[in-house]
Amino acid sequence: MRISIFGLGYVGVVSAGCLAKAGHTIIGVDIHPQKIEQVNGGKSPIIEAQLGELLRDGVENNRISATADCNEAIFNTDLSLICVGTPSQANGNLDIAAIRHVCTQIGAAIKAKNQQHMVVIRSTILPGTTANVIIPILEAETGGKVDEAFNLAYNPEFLREGTAVDDFFSPPKTVIGVLNDKAAQQVTKLYDGIDAPLIVTTIDISEMVKYADNVWHGLKVCFGNEIGNICQAQGIDSHKVMDIFCQDTKLNLSPNYLKPGFAFGGSCLPKDTRALTYQAKQLGLNLPLIESILTSNQQQIQRAISIISSKNKTKITVLGFTFKAGTDDLRESPLVELIERLIAQGYELKLFDKNVSLDSLIGLNKQYILNAIPHIDRLMVDTIDEAIKGAEIVIVGNNAQEFADIPSKIKSDQCLVDFVRLENTTHLKDRYIGINWIKDTQTNV
Ligand SMILES: NC(=O)c1ccc[n+]([C@@H]2O[C@H](COP(=O)([O-])OP(=O)(O)OC[C@H]3O[C@@H](n4cnc5c(N)ncnc54)[C@H](O)[C@@H]3O)[C@@H](O)[C@H]2O)c1
Repeated sequence: MRISIFGLGYVGVVSAGCLAKAGHTIIGVDIHPQKIEQVNGGKSPIIEAQLGELLRDGVENNRISATADCNEAIFNTDLSLICVGTPSQANGNLDIAAIRHVCTQIGAAIKAKNQQHMVVIRSTILPGTTANVIIPILEAETGGKVDEAFNLAYNPEFLREGTAVDDFFSPPKTVIGVLNDKAAQQVTKLYDGIDAPLIVTTIDISEMVKYADNVWHGLKVCFGNEIGNICQAQGIDSHKVMDIFCQDTKLNLSPNYLKPGFAFGGSCLPKDTRALTYQAKQLGLNLPLIESILTSNQQQIQRAISIISSKNKTKITVLGFTFKAGTDDLRESPLVELIERLIAQGYELKLFDKNVSLDSLIGLNKQYILNAIPHIDRLMVDTIDEAIKGAEIVIVGNNAQEFADIPSKIKSDQCLVDFVRLENTTHLKDRYIGINWIKDTQTNV
């Protein structure tokens, strides 16, 4: 394929070297004359293992050249990768001036070329930037619509400096965000022969995935460091601790606990987070990440209350209020706290949970619920149908099997507030509120 690459920084120059090695012909574009000169001379503008040879070979084989001329690049290629920098502004926002500039130039060049051109954004941009900034610029400059004058994809880059060439040929995944199949097929061809999961999705999801990934990496580093701080203060070998931690790919390094939903609770997580935070304070440590966990969790409960109060209704049913399905443990259930706070705010509540019966609860569990909601027996009903009848808002609090068909039972004057992402909710339209998600059926995708 004939490919132009805008921005010959880390991402652009590594892509140039690697795509040339894969057999493509590359024209690199940059505003820095020195970078253009270096690339044309087969020299790498950055220090990166293997890149020097790739660029030298690419130039010698006439597969790589560089220019400052946008028209030259667009006229002589079929697809452009945009790899310009998107640095931070002083206020933390992303500076997308280079993206705007390059899209304006590319759009005008596509218009002059008068042939459909594929534009692939690789720079990291905040969700919504493609739809709200890039497409409008390209449409204005080309004078045509996306999928007519030009086609478009967002294809985030996951390389790491220092291992960038290896990461290019062996990425953790390839994510391609598109508006149509034709774009997906064209971009997929760039990665022929690369052994990595290929994920084709929507543009906004692909933009957000890059941020979820990077924030996650940052979170992991800070978590490891804070655990290290606690270990060191007590003479414990932090690396041995984290080696064992990382061996657990069932609960620790796994998809478990990562899907958006409601707050955590139960007899262990809150108690143990609290205790370790307390111990860290006693050791004189300042651990902002670990200290913020319970605050963040509380915020999710507050968020649920805000969603409910925004509906201006008074009759609420909660289906499932143990901290997770399949248990009768009510200790520190965030749903119990939610119920408690809704009662205090004057809502009329009905509760159903087939695992909870005051007669069979014993010990600390019973004491906990009677302290939290002293007259809970007056609110509890025996069947789901009884619970739903007359409710204005039905909350599904945990994913017990018996709640799977609740969406079909919701009447036209009732809302469903879903904490567990039930299936078959499309017909409810705006009477369905997911606690932490918009479903595909609620968007235009
Ligand atoms: N560096 C990484 O490890 C990495 C990894 C993944 C994603 N990213 C993302 O990729 C993007 C590029 O990162 P980078 O590290 O390669 O940036 P960089 O700063 O190293 O390079 C950006 C290049 O774009 C050029 N440029 C600026 N305006 C231009 C224009 N109008 N026309 C042509 N060229 C122009 C600059 O001269 C520079 O050479 C960023 O959005 C970054 O967040 C970077």
